[in-house]
Amino acid sequence: MLKDQDRIFTNIYGMHDRSLKGAQARGHWDGTAGLIGKGRDWIIQTMKDSGLRGRGGAGFPTGLKWSFMPKESDGRPAYLVVNADESEPGTCKDREIMRHDPHTLIEGCLIASFAMNANACYIYIRGEYIREREVLQAAIDEAYEAGLLGRDAAGSGWDFDLYLHHGAGAYICGEETALLESLEGKKGMPRMKPPFPAGAGLYGCPTTVNNVESIAVVPTILRRGADWFSGFGRQNNAGTKLFAISGHVNNPCVVEEAMSISFEELIETHCGGIRGGWDNLLAVIPGGSSVPCVRGEKMRDATMDFDYLRGELGSGLGTAAVIVMDKSTDIIKAIWRLSKFYKHESCGQCTPCREGTGWMMRVMDRLVRGEAEIEEIDMLFDVTKQVEGHTICALGDAAAWPIQGLIRNFRDEIEDRIRAQKTGRASAVAAE
Ligand code: NAI
Ligand code: SF4
Repeated sequence: MLKDQDRIFTNIYGMHDRSLKGAQARGHWDGTAGLIGKGRDWIIQTMKDSGLRGRGGAGFPTGLKWSFMPKESDGRPAYLVVNADESEPGTCKDREIMRHDPHTLIEGCLIASFAMNANACYIYIRGEYIREREVLQAAIDEAYEAGLLGRDAAGSGWDFDLYLHHGAGAYICGEETALLESLEGKKGMPRMKPPFPAGAGLYGCPTTVNNVESIAVVPTILRRGADWFSGFGRQNNAGTKLFAISGHVNNPCVVEEAMSISFEELIETHCGGIRGGWDNLLAVIPGGSSVPCVRGEKMRDATMDFDYLRGELGSGLGTAAVIVMDKSTDIIKAIWRLSKFYKHESCGQCTPCREGTGWMMRVMDRLVRGEAEIEEIDMLFDVTKQVEGHTICALGDAAAWPIQGLIRNFRDEIEDRIRAQKTGRASAVAAE
């Protein structure tokens, strides 16, 4: 179990004072100007050495992403955009940061922006996070009043402005280029990549889009050192990480733990175990709704990191939103519900996603009721393969993968339901 002194998020449960005074008492905003004074190259190299991989779901190395930004200004302003449009079903870790530890994020915005030559940063927060928006805005105002933002921010010699912008409830605006479109005042539709935002992002200028957690951990990593951070977890999966555990555990929670903790330890230490005991565990979605589900018995010994969950279990760490389902769950219906979600949230600009999400949802509709043919299971799987990798953004993959996980792991249950339905129908006809 991670020791208290190794936690970056010192107020994740909201037990302490979240104001600037409280944050400073817990070590935030300590020597910020000194960190900035060490220069861009030092900051980016330290982030690379720390091994931090993006905490928004994709796990792209953060330091490497920063290094794609132009070193010298080419006349265009550079921007940092923080993706706080946390909409992945099951995911609520960034919400806790903004609610209870807003100054870790604000300090991170200043340092990261400096490292990327950006004098302005936008935090794009999901529309539904109204309380969090209020808390964050109050913290930003406080930081301005204290001279930590604005001209000569925190006495660093760097001029820096931070703006909070809220979305209006579209899941697709969490996709980084759709987010940029939305920030520019347009309809949130993903752009083709490349160009990646570092080349042409907000208003066509060099931009880095980072997740809230990725930015909030920056000041502590710089203060405590790359070796300290990379000492948690294992190679290529370093650091501490916020896990958001929901569903059929005795105590659902958001908790910071060392990366690569075992699933069993995570659940036993922080969640009071599985509801009804380990024999009652049916399935787990380990990384938010976009990654495939895994059968419960395969999860108990699982290592909770990017490489194990993908390489060994064909799933993923994603946003580390761990959705636990016990045997009372209708797993076919649970995945059908996700299909409905992705169909609703598709922006509709590419055909495989626009048509495929509707098609998959309609077949799932019938599978839930058992009103399908056994052969349709393979056909559905084939359709998911036609959608996967053939769309502009990752929403197409996200719609395909949960269904693939269902078919791979719970094929027997789908077939049993179809057979039971057929037998039921046949008996009803015979009875007539
Ligand atoms: P991605 O792998 O395409 O990109 C990840 C990041 O790396 C992006 O910022 C991208 O610009 C950058 N990048 C990748 N290759 C690059 C290259 N060659 N040059 C420069 N930059 C490069 O993944 P994407 O589409 O950004 O994110 C997908 C993930 O988002 C999913 O796996 C899912 O887990 C997660 N997600 C999270 C949500 C949330 O609420 N936090 C919501 C929905 C999805
Ligand atoms: Fe829009 Fe779906 Fe295409 Fe993404 S994959 S751009 S959500 S239609």
